[in-house]
Amino acid sequence: MARVTIDRMSKDYGAVRAVNGLALEIADGELLTLLGPSGCGKSTALSCIAGLERLSEGTIRFDDRDVTELEPHQRNVAMVFQDYALYPHMDVRDNISFGLKQQKVDPAAITQQVEKAAGMLDLGSYLDRRPAELSGGQRQRVAVGRAVVRDPAVLLMDEPLSNLDAGLRLRTRTEIKRLQRELGVTTVFVTHDQEEAMVLSDRMAVMRDGLLQQIGPPMEVYREPVNLFVASFIGSPAMNFLDVELVREGNTLLCRFAERTLRLALGSVSEASLKSLDRPKKALLGIRPSDLLVGGSAREQTIEGRVFLVEPVGPVTFLDVDVEGRVVKAACDPDTAPVVGEVVPLGFADSRVRLFDQATEQRL
Ligand SMILES: Nc1ncnc2c1ncn2[C@@H]1O[C@H](COP(=O)(O)OP(=O)(O)OP(=O)(O)O)[C@@H](O)[C@H]1O
Ligand SMILES: [Mg+2]
Repeated sequence: MARVTIDRMSKDYGAVRAVNGLALEIADGELLTLLGPSGCGKSTALSCIAGLERLSEGTIRFDDRDVTELEPHQRNVAMVFQDYALYPHMDVRDNISFGLKQQKVDPAAITQQVEKAAGMLDLGSYLDRRPAELSGGQRQRVAVGRAVVRDPAVLLMDEPLSNLDAGLRLRTRTEIKRLQRELGVTTVFVTHDQEEAMVLSDRMAVMRDGLLQQIGPPMEVYREPVNLFVASFIGSPAMNFLDVELVREGNTLLCRFAERTLRLALGSVSEASLKSLDRPKKALLGIRPSDLLVGGSAREQTIEGRVFLVEPVGPVTFLDVDVEGRVVKAACDPDTAPVVGEVVPLGFADSRVRLFDQATEQRL
């Protein structure tokens, strides 16, 4: 197991800069996810850590060892991909132990390690089956087992769950998290699924166009997004954004949208941003659907709108509400959900408002 230090890592494919100056440190035993939309450079970054791609710039260290120029097999990394690529003619036992046999590990030790991994992954009763006789989730667990029995310094996973159906995805991700905790193996997990990243990560690194946007524990990134991109990428249903004009007036922040003016606490923006608000500034007010509640009379702010869509998802019901000609998504208790056409008050707390500069898209 190892601490991974990535320093100003870039990777170019011709004119395309797939990864641009990535710098981050992954603690020993940590599970870090690389998260971002398709094409943002996640797989490229992972391949660089694995040694499958050469860096254009920068360095990678495992603990104090510079591995930048090392071949994959010299790095002691294990990879799990989206398509599990098991050997179809071998049974589960042979698939899991294949790497160990190649490394000429003592047969008794192999048996022991395979049994331990199979136990942890709940594969004990499938050891004599071939991949074709397993479900997708079981196959992916075999691929994970094959990766972890080698006791890698770093475990790298590239969208390992995306071929699985919804239910299996949830179960398998729980298994992966549990296994990773039990083994304490430093892990980099690539996904474009923000919920998967939230659930699995110790910390998540959000990328866009090859650039790291933000890194932090899931709830910190969720609650305190640094810019509009992170705010809109994390969270489902997505955060609402309203075009507003902001200006400071004494001890409050006047926030105008359409014909309304809200008075927000000064603390809704950073100290530094406050200085720029002596003159009106165009901004975006972000509020998550789950923080915009029907009724909400106890909240600090209230806006009103007409319901035009009702979406029950079980524990909560989401509503599309027309507020001054804009669509916002709000939430309510399923037992007291309004009907289409009803005019409802929507309440929210100042502390849940996130404000962004319209020009720079940075958090204010
Ligand atoms: N071998 C290659 N040659 C040229 N360009 C490449 C190569 N591999 C990746 N790219 C480009 O680099 C960028 C990043 O690709 P990458 O595969 O890392 O994205 P990703 O975040 O993993 O996306 P996805 O979620 O779709 O897997 C993309 O613009 C892609 O087209
Ligand atoms: Mg990819």
